[in-house]
Amino acid sequence: MVIEMDIKDLIRESLKNYTAYEPGEQPTTDGWIKLNTNENPNPPIPEIMEDIKAAINDKLKRYPDPTAFEVRKMILSVLLRDKDTLTNRNTVFVGNGCDEILDIIFKVFVDPGDEVVFFYPSYGMYRVLASLYGAKINEIKLNDDFSLPDSAYNAQGKVLFINSPNNPNGKSFGNAAILKICSNFPGIVVVDETYAAFSDQTSLPLLKKVKNLIVASTFSKSFSLASLRFGYAVADASIIKEMNNVKLPYNTNYLAQVAALSCIKHRNKLYEQNKKIILERQRLTDELNTYNGIKVLPSDANFILIQFEDKTKTLKFLWDLKEKKKVLVRHFSKPGLYKFLRISIGTEEENNKFLEAFKDIAAEYL
Ligand SMILES: Cc1ncc(COP(=O)(O)O)c(C=O)c1O
Repeated sequence: MVIEMDIKDLIRESLKNYTAYEPGEQPTTDGWIKLNTNENPNPPIPEIMEDIKAAINDKLKRYPDPTAFEVRKMILSVLLRDKDTLTNRNTVFVGNGCDEILDIIFKVFVDPGDEVVFFYPSYGMYRVLASLYGAKINEIKLNDDFSLPDSAYNAQGKVLFINSPNNPNGKSFGNAAILKICSNFPGIVVVDETYAAFSDQTSLPLLKKVKNLIVASTFSKSFSLASLRFGYAVADASIIKEMNNVKLPYNTNYLAQVAALSCIKHRNKLYEQNKKIILERQRLTDELNTYNGIKVLPSDANFILIQFEDKTKTLKFLWDLKEKKKVLVRHFSKPGLYKFLRISIGTEEENNKFLEAFKDIAAEYL
């Protein structure tokens, strides 16, 4: 006999009004130009592929180093060496992508009912995690030009998330503004620097000035490692200690640790590839800005945001790019974002195909 029960009665209270994160489409068939999820268009370079392949050995039967000691050491002593930031190994935390780091920050600092502050529009996971943990949400709307409103500087709460450069518009907020937020905010400020490697800015030096800051980053974008899931955070040792306390024991796997070490070793080649992405960002921006009726917003990230005149035109472009040209870009069906399409920067070849496709569609609609 099966005993009837309604699972809905058993789930946590905070899940009753919860909406899960909606990832961008990941097609399962070939032939797409995929410019919708801000991945790096370049595969890991052959040297890194070789290191990963060589690591597929009998060590896979063992658990990985729970502290990822070697990678944390190399992050500080090599990757961040010239960033004018903290130097003690106990100030680095590594996780299963930047997303896990955000989750762990909630685990450490947010009780149900605690106020969590973030901006709109920005990365959707801040809201998802805040509702998952039953936080009180204080979502501050950015100005129409995506700059910070004055209210950013007198926000109250337990944790404040700021994404710089900000997804989806791509602009950095600058350290003067971030320092002012840290100085005024009574809780922890998290600067999510997932895209900072494509800019000339980082908040890492601020860690020497304020104690309530966590700078989070990832190997997903600038190091082409989105699939292996490897992120890191830098903060005062007292914060990192608490994060280590609550993390699952083996949160970064062995292959990801090997790949991360290899990325650090071959970083200069990866930086060269990223310079190309930055040049391509400029080329796309310039070419698209020659069209009447659209505007490309300035970006410090590996994506650009295009503003159209109205929602109908935006959706026509979205539809035709996908259905007629097999080009995937990102549209957010959310207040204030209906008139925008976000385009991740691809390889030169992918970008050329995108521009060709755009031109054909523009001939009909612009
Ligand atoms: C702002 C921002 N933070 C974090 C992430 C997640 O990064 P990861 O792949 O390291 O989990 C993303 C992914 O797109 C992002 O846009």
